[in-house]
Amino acid sequence: MAFDQEKFQSIIDEFTVDGERLREIAANFRQDLKLGLKSPEDSSLRMLKSYVGLPTGKEKGEFLALDFGGTNVRVLRIRLEGAGKYEVVKRVGKPLRVEGIYDYVGLGSKSEDMFDFLAGLIDEAVDGDHETKYLLGHTFSFPSEQTDLYNAKLIIWTKEFATAGVEGKVVNDLLKEALERNGLKNVEPVAVINDTVAVLLSAAYKQEDIYIGSIYATGHNTCYLEPYADSADAPMILNLESGGFSKLAPNRFDTMLDEASEKPGEQRLEKMASGRYMGDLFSMALALLHDDAQWRYGFTSIDMSGIISDESADLSEVVRIVATRTGSEPDLAECRDIQKLAKTILNRSARLVTATFVGIIWQLAGKGEVKEQHIAVDGSVYEKMPGAKENIMRALSELLGQDAAKVDTILDNGGSGLGAAIAAAMAQK
Ligand code: GLC
Repeated sequence: MAFDQEKFQSIIDEFTVDGERLREIAANFRQDLKLGLKSPEDSSLRMLKSYVGLPTGKEKGEFLALDFGGTNVRVLRIRLEGAGKYEVVKRVGKPLRVEGIYDYVGLGSKSEDMFDFLAGLIDEAVDGDHETKYLLGHTFSFPSEQTDLYNAKLIIWTKEFATAGVEGKVVNDLLKEALERNGLKNVEPVAVINDTVAVLLSAAYKQEDIYIGSIYATGHNTCYLEPYADSADAPMILNLESGGFSKLAPNRFDTMLDEASEKPGEQRLEKMASGRYMGDLFSMALALLHDDAQWRYGFTSIDMSGIISDESADLSEVVRIVATRTGSEPDLAECRDIQKLAKTILNRSARLVTATFVGIIWQLAGKGEVKEQHIAVDGSVYEKMPGAKENIMRALSELLGQDAAKVDTILDNGGSGLGAAIAAAMAQK
């Protein structure tokens, strides 16, 4: 039986951002950015200083990179060869949570256990070598207040992380203590950066004309190089924590999701746009179509990818995915609507993300011309969700008109790791 079409259409409308609204969001974002530069308390953007500018591309040496910020942690040993070249010498990685076995991030988990787990991974990355001295760059992908490149205090967990004893602490101190507990005194953490900053460093190490770095994955956030044009300050990358942007018009699903989250009221843009939450929004909308008070169907953004990319005549993949999550098989008419719903939620996400990019581009251009540039992006949604990139390009051209020809987005795969090694190299100066 097909869905009630009136109800269906009203849900689609609620997830649709038209051209006018898109422009308004970009302008509001720019406004918040300006406010954030002058009086941060009036802005919904945290605009956190990173204490690092762009690399020269000539940075050299072997460094450890800890990439911590999503469901998987990675440690890499990277040799920077200068001239934008590098080699990954060793790579290890593990999930922070394995259902029924261990969990370092959920409620009840503790700081010491988590950092000991990280130290264990670092031990693997150095092959148990407790002698050779290594400098370590740490990509820590949560809002942190920095006073220099080493010293970053976690302000608040995001992305539903809940490990006790880390908020308010200097994360590299916690890491250092764990390294010492585990006999790894030869590893010295020297830099902490956000993953957006890592992506920007990594892309700028390899190529020119890059001023904006973004993550579009489990979480969503963007940073840019603030030129401080009218002051004596040196240019510095600012981590906007744009996932916290709140000058948006949430619909009833966004509100429900926010209320049920670990941190209600926080990360409003992220909850409307990132991979961690898109599946929940989709679950809620579908539950409403089913007149089911339960919205915890548990769809993920990976399910949504599968649904969106199904081009078969009978939409058999849509049937399979929906039946797995809900326990009942949709008919063909329902499958078409379900696919449209998934595409609409993804398109909204991509349009919101693009509006924030354009807000930054407008701010950087000021009264002058938009510069030729690439926006460096990493993350599973950008890389893997069918249509994400195309939706971004379309929204860019809607907002920038002819200037859209000067801007594109490029994938900087693995930038979180490489960026940490570059930051460690830059810390040496
Ligand atoms: C969350 C974090 C932010 C990070 C982003 C992407 O928004 O608060 O620091 O950059 O996720 O991982």
